[in-house]
Amino acid sequence: MVSKKIMLDEEEIPKQWYCILPDMPKPMPPLIQTDTKAPGPGIVPLIFPKEIIGQEMSQERWINIPDEVRDVYRLWRPTPLIRASRLEKALKTPAKIYYKYEGVSPSGSHKPNTAVPQAYYNMKEGKERMATETGAGQWGSAFAFGCQTFNIGCTVYMVRISYDQKPYRRVLMESYGATVHASPSKETKAGRDVLAEDSDSSGSLGIAISEAVEDALTNQDTNYGIGSVFNHVLLHQTVVGQEAKKQLELVDDYPDVIYGCIGGGSSFSGLFWPFYYDKVTGKAPKDIRFVATEATACPSITKGEYMYDHGDTARITPLVKMHTLGHNFIPPPIHAGGLRYHGIAPTLSVLNEANMLETAAYNQVEVFDAAKTFIESEAIIPAPEPTHAIKGVIDEALRCKETGEEKTILFLLCGHGYFDMQAYDDYNQGKLLPYDYPEEKVQKAVGKIRELYPWLATLPY
Ligand SMILES: Cc1ncc(COP(=O)(O)O)c(C=O)c1O
Repeated sequence: MVSKKIMLDEEEIPKQWYCILPDMPKPMPPLIQTDTKAPGPGIVPLIFPKEIIGQEMSQERWINIPDEVRDVYRLWRPTPLIRASRLEKALKTPAKIYYKYEGVSPSGSHKPNTAVPQAYYNMKEGKERMATETGAGQWGSAFAFGCQTFNIGCTVYMVRISYDQKPYRRVLMESYGATVHASPSKETKAGRDVLAEDSDSSGSLGIAISEAVEDALTNQDTNYGIGSVFNHVLLHQTVVGQEAKKQLELVDDYPDVIYGCIGGGSSFSGLFWPFYYDKVTGKAPKDIRFVATEATACPSITKGEYMYDHGDTARITPLVKMHTLGHNFIPPPIHAGGLRYHGIAPTLSVLNEANMLETAAYNQVEVFDAAKTFIESEAIIPAPEPTHAIKGVIDEALRCKETGEEKTILFLLCGHGYFDMQAYDDYNQGKLLPYDYPEEKVQKAVGKIRELYPWLATLPY
């Protein structure tokens, strides 16, 4: 009988995070300041603690995890690796499917892996409060939990559509002691400016980021925390992939392919980076592939342009080179709230340009169909975001059925969907619609960035 759950002991929680920067195929393009039109950190040093900024640019591969952070990780780590044997059987595939399950964390996703160290480093450097944004509410609840752990205040700007659709996420954040504002809010100039143009705005992650950053910039005791995209966030997530590798060793297996969903790219990077390290250092026993999946309604990597853009709508952040749909992107109201960001992690962009990644986009009907198949066999209700990875995995396993290949497939079930019942209700009642974000809209948005900053064309990066 194959074991269903592959577990590790608490001592095996990783002692270091892995930073990919020394192993990138080429150096990362620098941040660009719009005032000087030259490389520079912009507001970054004003809103992050020194330790985090060091990690952001680290050329050290391995970064020690503070004991205080590991001690909090022990609340839910190591997380289980689960062999999806019932799903394999249902699909009649010769492939072996494993998933690393991060839904067992206190707030229900992978996000506390970075929320806890971010809160820790800010507490260490004397900050009394943190501000952040949240889309689906997963990041906000993780961050509220992290801040509570180290006794600092937390203000969350929650994208209006999620605030309305997911009241229980707000209650969870408040239960962890956070103050939650629907974004755009009247609390900040960025929010008031958007409301002046459209008092009914459903909001976007870009707008909520502008609000949280403004809050941190205008309050001395407050810093900013971010749930994805930045290098330090992605590296904190590598506890996931390191554990998964050890767990697979216990059953003498190694993946042929790894799937994950990408909003900003933190959960997927956390899983695949440690295997990427094996690949580039010649340690991988197989020619492993990495597949990033996203929503056709927010196709940052599959349709976005690789260019310099702001991380936020009010253009407070410096320019960062990444795949983008344009900082003014207002996402269609799909249920995978965590995938509705206009950009992606610059590290993923570089790997994509170097053809070291594969990518796929799926619409919300096909991903919920895949979730249904998963639930029928494995029973856990996935968050809407990882259903994109599940769709990719099921397609891959069905291809194996045709070819007879006994591939090992690993994916990240990065969160549970028990706060996403509205999404499942809409799906069960046949109310979900497929949506493809149009290419013309991307080109229009990208054209506007080029008009705004014509000098971008002369940059050597
Ligand atoms: C459960 C879940 N998965 C995935 C994501 C996407 O973010 P990332 O690509 O950084 O993992 C989110 C974002 O909020 C999320 O809540």
